[in-house]
Amino acid sequence: MREITDNWEELYETEVSQKLRHFSREGRMYDCLFAQQLTRELLEELFTIADNLRKITKTKEGADHASSLLSDKRAMLYFVQPSTRTFLSFLNACHLLGIKTSEIRDTSTSSEVKGESSEDTVRTFSSYVDLIIMRHPTPGFVEKTAWLMNRTKRPVPVINAGSGKDQHPTQALLDVYTLHKSFDGEIDGKKIVMVGDLKRGRTVRSLSYLMKNYKNVSLAFVSPKEFKMEPDILGFLKKHSIPYVETADFMSVMPEADAIYMTRIQDEHDTSGESRKVDYSPFYFKKEHLKIIKPSCVIMHPLPRRDEIETAVDEDPRAIYWRQERNGMWVRAAMISYIFKTNEKIIECCISNVSKILYDT
Ligand code: NCD
Repeated sequence: MREITDNWEELYETEVSQKLRHFSREGRMYDCLFAQQLTRELLEELFTIADNLRKITKTKEGADHASSLLSDKRAMLYFVQPSTRTFLSFLNACHLLGIKTSEIRDTSTSSEVKGESSEDTVRTFSSYVDLIIMRHPTPGFVEKTAWLMNRTKRPVPVINAGSGKDQHPTQALLDVYTLHKSFDGEIDGKKIVMVGDLKRGRTVRSLSYLMKNYKNVSLAFVSPKEFKMEPDILGFLKKHSIPYVETADFMSVMPEADAIYMTRIQDEHDTSGESRKVDYSPFYFKKEHLKIIKPSCVIMHPLPRRDEIETAVDEDPRAIYWRQERNGMWVRAAMISYIFKTNEKIIECCISNVSKILYDT
């Protein structure tokens, strides 16, 4: 019998590693809420599924097969915070697998304007859909939705597509998938530089958590003093013996970097215009910096960007942010297929496709 606590406040305060059992079933991740859920074993499995999906959908036959895998399922995309690529990549990931989708992108178009609580609104979804993919400005709200759903008679899995300033696990997933592909599967031993508004950027927070899965990785956090990485993440890194440095001198860490992960200033979280008081220009990656970085260094960005990467950098083969963006669709489709346990069918189909190609030639 699964133990589901009645006390939300207590659960919310519980350390993540202690509460993961509430969000898994039969030893598998059921709700994807925290980057800490993504173990190396799970990551490798998701990468394999994503690679196989890419392969099989190259032919119409394979794409038709993929879109039959979950054609009996429906998903709700509840994105009440701005989103372009996370929304579109999840939408297209669902469509790749044949899942029918519905969406709410603004609370003003839902019954929340009639005074219905957000909790009641999301409970309504479970009457109609089999999966909830959610982006919400309030930290913890996605987790609360998953907790609520797990207590209903018709539970449905919940995927966190960005919650407040705290977590964005599927962005971290696509980021490591991109690193994995860029480094031929060898993330161990790499030096990763994260740059920008590290205090309020949920992508860099989630990505830092994932580093526990790799050996001898070291991190450099480059930010203005006002937007340094939060102590909870630094504490996590210390606990897992992951070395890091903090600096405001971007150029000093460029030559050694294997990956540079740029982020924009997160001024939507300003309470009193604090972003305007900060000179962000020392945290820009410019064309002239291409001469300083290693020939093998990759430049990443979760996007959207403002001025922190000069557009002239886009032409350089080391700028991989557009590829990173596209990787999101495949690896999110992989995660959905894992949650619904259809991953084996993708692998089987890939094996039979390969043998068909070998046999036909
Ligand atoms: C990020 C986000 O929403 O946190 N974007 C994304 O999901 N691709 C980063 C950002 O908005 O700066």
